[in-house]
Amino acid sequence: MRLDKFLAECGFGTRTEVKKLIKSGCVEVKGDEKVRPETHIDENSSEIFVNGKKADYRKFVYLILNKPSGFISATWDKKLPTVIDLVPEEYIHFDVSPVGRLDIDTEGLLLLTNDGDLNHRLLSPKNHVPKTYIAKLLNPVKNEDIETFKKGMDLGDFETLPSTLEIISQNEPYTAKVTICEGKFHQVKRMFEKVNNKVLYLKRIKMKNLILDENLDLGKVRELTNEELEDLLK
Ligand code: URA
Repeated sequence: MRLDKFLAECGFGTRTEVKKLIKSGCVEVKGDEKVRPETHIDENSSEIFVNGKKADYRKFVYLILNKPSGFISATWDKKLPTVIDLVPEEYIHFDVSPVGRLDIDTEGLLLLTNDGDLNHRLLSPKNHVPKTYIAKLLNPVKNEDIETFKKGMDLGDFETLPSTLEIISQNEPYTAKVTICEGKFHQVKRMFEKVNNKVLYLKRIKMKNLILDENLDLGKVRELTNEELEDLLK
Protein backbone atom coordinates (compact mmCIF):
# COMPACT_ATOMS: atom_id res chain seq x y z
CA MET A 1 0.00 0.00 0.00
CA ARG A 2 1.18 3.55 -0.70
CA LEU A 3 2.21 5.57 2.33
CA ASP A 4 -0.24 8.41 1.62
CA LYS A 5 -3.15 5.94 1.36
CA PHE A 6 -2.06 4.24 4.58
CA LEU A 7 -1.90 7.53 6.49
CA ALA A 8 -5.26 8.68 5.12
CA GLU A 9 -6.82 5.38 6.23
CA CYS A 10 -5.24 5.81 9.66
CA GLY A 11 -7.12 9.10 9.96
CA PHE A 12 -4.32 11.60 9.42
CA GLY A 13 -6.35 13.53 6.85
CA THR A 14 -7.26 13.47 3.20
CA ARG A 15 -4.74 12.22 0.59
CA THR A 16 -3.78 15.89 -0.10
CA GLU A 17 -3.37 16.63 3.61
CA VAL A 18 -1.20 13.60 4.27
CA LYS A 19 0.97 14.38 1.23
CA LYS A 20 1.67 17.76 2.84
CA LEU A 21 2.39 16.03 6.15
CA ILE A 22 4.88 13.70 4.46
CA LYS A 23 6.56 16.61 2.65
CA SER A 24 6.87 18.54 5.92
CA GLY A 25 9.11 15.74 7.23
CA CYS A 26 6.86 14.69 10.12
CA VAL A 27 6.56 11.11 8.85
CA GLU A 28 9.16 8.44 9.43
CA VAL A 29 9.16 4.93 7.98
CA LYS A 30 11.58 2.72 9.88
CA GLY A 31 14.40 1.54 7.65
CA ASP A 32 13.55 3.97 4.87
CA GLU A 33 15.69 7.06 4.41
CA LYS A 34 13.65 8.86 1.80
CA VAL A 35 9.97 9.02 2.58
CA ARG A 36 7.59 9.98 -0.22
CA PRO A 37 3.80 9.79 -0.61
CA GLU A 38 4.24 6.94 -3.10
CA THR A 39 6.60 4.97 -0.85
CA HIS A 40 5.33 1.41 -0.60
CA ILE A 41 4.78 0.11 2.90
CA ASP A 42 3.34 -3.08 4.36
CA GLU A 43 0.39 -2.08 6.52
CA ASN A 44 0.94 -5.09 8.78
CA SER A 45 4.68 -4.99 9.32
CA SER A 46 6.09 -1.54 8.46
CA GLU A 47 6.75 0.74 11.39
CA ILE A 48 5.50 4.22 10.65
CA PHE A 49 5.69 7.22 12.94
CA VAL A 50 3.96 10.59 12.66
CA ASN A 51 5.56 13.27 14.81
CA GLY A 52 7.30 10.44 16.65
CA LYS A 53 4.06 8.55 17.44
CA LYS A 54 3.44 5.12 15.94
CA ALA A 55 0.61 5.03 13.40
CA ASP A 56 -1.72 2.08 13.93
CA TYR A 57 -3.46 0.71 10.90
CA ARG A 58 -6.88 -0.85 11.16
CA LYS A 59 -9.22 -1.55 8.37
CA PHE A 60 -12.36 -2.06 10.40
CA VAL A 61 -13.83 -0.38 13.43
CA TYR A 62 -16.75 -1.59 15.57
CA LEU A 63 -18.67 0.93 17.64
CA ILE A 64 -21.57 0.62 20.02
CA LEU A 65 -23.91 3.60 20.32
CA ASN A 66 -26.55 4.16 22.96
CA LYS A 67 -28.92 5.80 20.52
CA PRO A 68 -31.10 8.59 21.83
CA SER A 69 -34.52 9.43 20.42
CA GLY A 70 -34.52 12.04 17.64
CA PHE A 71 -31.79 10.54 15.44
CA ILE A 72 -32.42 8.43 12.38
CA SER A 73 -30.47 5.25 11.65
CA ALA A 74 -28.97 6.39 8.36
CA THR A 75 -25.67 7.86 7.24
CA TRP A 76 -27.20 10.99 5.74
CA ASP A 77 -30.48 12.87 5.68
CA LYS A 78 -31.61 16.14 4.15
CA LYS A 79 -33.36 17.38 7.30
CA LEU A 80 -33.00 15.09 10.29
CA PRO A 81 -29.98 14.41 12.49
CA THR A 82 -28.52 10.94 11.89
CA VAL A 83 -26.68 8.55 14.19
CA ILE A 84 -23.48 9.46 12.33
CA ASP A 85 -23.74 12.93 13.92
CA LEU A 86 -23.04 11.16 17.23
CA VAL A 87 -19.84 9.45 16.04
CA PRO A 88 -16.71 11.10 17.48
CA GLU A 89 -14.47 12.86 14.97
CA GLU A 90 -11.66 10.30 15.37
CA TYR A 91 -13.83 7.60 13.78
CA ILE A 92 -15.34 9.59 10.91
CA HIS A 93 -12.73 8.54 8.34
CA PHE A 94 -13.70 4.90 8.88
CA ASP A 95 -17.01 5.63 7.17
CA VAL A 96 -19.15 3.46 9.46
CA SER A 97 -22.81 2.61 8.86
CA PRO A 98 -25.46 1.48 11.31
CA VAL A 99 -26.13 -2.27 11.43
CA GLY A 100 -29.86 -2.30 10.88
CA ARG A 101 -32.30 0.36 11.94
CA LEU A 102 -33.95 1.65 15.03
CA ASP A 103 -36.92 3.98 14.62
CA ILE A 104 -36.28 7.67 15.20
CA ASP A 105 -37.96 7.45 18.63
CA THR A 106 -36.31 4.15 19.67
CA GLU A 107 -33.35 4.27 22.01
CA GLY A 108 -30.57 1.88 22.86
CA LEU A 109 -28.05 -0.43 21.30
CA LEU A 110 -26.97 0.32 17.76
CA LEU A 111 -23.84 -1.18 16.29
CA LEU A 112 -21.90 0.90 13.79
CA THR A 113 -19.18 -0.56 11.59
CA ASN A 114 -17.44 -0.39 8.24
CA ASP A 115 -17.15 -4.21 8.21
CA GLY A 116 -19.63 -4.98 5.45
CA ASP A 117 -19.40 -8.75 5.97
CA LEU A 118 -20.38 -8.55 9.63
CA ASN A 119 -23.12 -6.05 8.83
CA HIS A 120 -24.52 -8.44 6.25
CA ARG A 121 -24.25 -11.47 8.52
CA LEU A 122 -26.06 -9.78 11.40
CA LEU A 123 -28.86 -8.55 9.15
CA SER A 124 -29.32 -11.56 6.90
CA PRO A 125 -32.87 -12.85 7.51
CA LYS A 126 -31.67 -16.45 7.30
CA ASN A 127 -29.40 -15.97 10.33
CA HIS A 128 -32.27 -15.13 12.72
CA VAL A 129 -30.10 -12.91 14.91
CA PRO A 130 -32.00 -12.28 18.19
CA LYS A 131 -32.63 -8.70 19.28
CA THR A 132 -34.02 -7.85 22.70
CA TYR A 133 -36.06 -4.75 23.54
CA ILE A 134 -37.58 -3.19 26.62
CA ALA A 135 -41.01 -1.80 25.82
CA LYS A 136 -43.12 0.51 27.97
CA LEU A 137 -46.74 -0.03 27.11
CA LEU A 138 -50.11 1.67 27.30
CA ASN A 139 -51.79 -1.41 28.79
CA PRO A 140 -50.60 -4.33 30.91
CA VAL A 141 -49.49 -7.47 29.04
CA LYS A 142 -52.15 -10.21 29.03
CA ASN A 143 -51.03 -13.75 29.76
CA GLU A 144 -52.36 -14.90 26.40
CA ASP A 145 -50.07 -12.37 24.65
CA ILE A 146 -47.08 -14.42 25.76
CA GLU A 147 -48.49 -17.40 23.88
CA THR A 148 -49.39 -15.28 20.82
CA PHE A 149 -45.82 -13.92 20.62
CA LYS A 150 -44.43 -17.44 21.08
CA LYS A 151 -46.58 -18.93 18.32
CA GLY A 152 -45.82 -16.16 15.82
CA MET A 153 -48.45 -13.82 14.45
CA ASP A 154 -49.81 -12.66 11.14
CA LEU A 155 -49.01 -8.99 10.62
CA GLY A 156 -50.66 -8.85 7.22
CA ASP A 157 -47.54 -8.62 5.07
CA PHE A 158 -45.65 -11.34 6.97
CA GLU A 159 -45.84 -13.95 9.72
CA THR A 160 -43.50 -13.29 12.61
CA LEU A 161 -41.14 -16.00 13.80
CA PRO A 162 -41.67 -17.22 17.37
CA SER A 163 -40.61 -14.51 19.81
CA THR A 164 -40.26 -14.28 23.56
CA LEU A 165 -42.38 -11.93 25.62
CA GLU A 166 -41.60 -11.49 29.30
CA ILE A 167 -43.49 -9.30 31.76
CA ILE A 168 -41.32 -6.87 33.68
CA SER A 169 -43.99 -4.75 35.34
CA GLN A 170 -47.78 -5.01 35.54
CA ASN A 171 -47.88 -1.64 37.30
CA GLU A 172 -47.42 1.64 35.49
CA PRO A 173 -45.30 2.07 33.51
CA TYR A 174 -46.38 -1.34 32.16
CA THR A 175 -43.15 -2.85 30.96
CA ALA A 176 -42.17 -5.93 28.99
CA LYS A 177 -39.08 -7.50 27.50
CA VAL A 178 -39.36 -8.89 24.00
CA THR A 179 -36.90 -10.82 21.85
CA ILE A 180 -37.44 -11.11 18.12
CA CYS A 181 -35.31 -12.92 15.56
CA GLU A 182 -36.03 -10.74 12.56
CA GLY A 183 -36.15 -7.01 12.08
CA LYS A 184 -39.03 -5.87 9.95
CA PHE A 185 -40.06 -2.22 9.88
CA HIS A 186 -41.74 -1.18 13.19
CA GLN A 187 -41.96 -4.87 14.06
CA VAL A 188 -42.17 -4.66 17.85
CA LYS A 189 -44.65 -1.79 17.73
CA ARG A 190 -46.79 -3.68 15.23
CA MET A 191 -46.71 -6.86 17.31
CA PHE A 192 -48.05 -5.04 20.35
CA GLU A 193 -50.69 -3.28 18.24
CA LYS A 194 -51.83 -6.70 17.04
CA VAL A 195 -52.61 -7.66 20.65
CA ASN A 196 -54.42 -4.35 21.25
CA ASN A 197 -51.62 -2.68 23.08
CA LYS A 198 -49.36 0.26 22.23
CA VAL A 199 -45.64 0.83 22.63
CA LEU A 200 -45.02 4.16 24.35
CA TYR A 201 -41.26 3.78 24.63
CA LEU A 202 -38.82 1.30 23.09
CA LYS A 203 -35.20 0.57 23.87
CA ARG A 204 -32.96 -2.14 22.40
CA ILE A 205 -30.78 -3.74 25.04
CA LYS A 206 -29.21 -6.69 23.21
CA MET A 207 -28.28 -7.88 19.73
CA LYS A 208 -26.98 -11.45 19.38
CA ASN A 209 -24.64 -11.62 22.40
CA LEU A 210 -23.82 -7.92 22.52
CA ILE A 211 -25.38 -6.24 25.54
CA LEU A 212 -26.03 -2.51 25.90
CA ASP A 213 -23.50 -1.25 28.36
CA GLU A 214 -25.26 0.27 31.42
CA ASN A 215 -22.41 2.76 31.76
CA LEU A 216 -22.72 4.06 28.24
CA ASP A 217 -24.70 7.30 28.45
CA LEU A 218 -27.41 8.09 25.95
CA GLY A 219 -25.83 9.51 22.79
CA LYS A 220 -22.40 8.11 23.60
CA VAL A 221 -20.25 5.81 21.49
CA ARG A 222 -17.44 3.46 22.41
CA GLU A 223 -15.45 0.78 20.62
CA LEU A 224 -16.37 -2.84 21.28
CA THR A 225 -13.91 -4.65 23.53
CA ASN A 226 -11.95 -7.53 21.96
CA GLU A 227 -14.11 -9.97 23.91
CA GLU A 228 -17.37 -8.42 22.69
CA LEU A 229 -16.08 -8.45 19.12
CA GLU A 230 -14.96 -12.08 19.29
CA ASP A 231 -18.39 -13.08 20.62
CA LEU A 232 -20.13 -11.14 17.88
CA LEU A 233 -17.98 -12.65 15.12
CA LYS A 234 -18.61 -16.24 16.33
N1 URA B 1 -39.27 -2.60 16.39
C1 URA B 1 -39.84 -1.40 16.29
O1 URA B 1 -41.06 -1.29 16.23
N2 URA B 1 -39.05 -0.31 16.27
C2 URA B 1 -37.70 -0.38 16.35
O2 URA B 1 -37.03 0.67 16.35
C3 URA B 1 -37.11 -1.63 16.46
C4 URA B 1 -37.92 -2.73 16.47
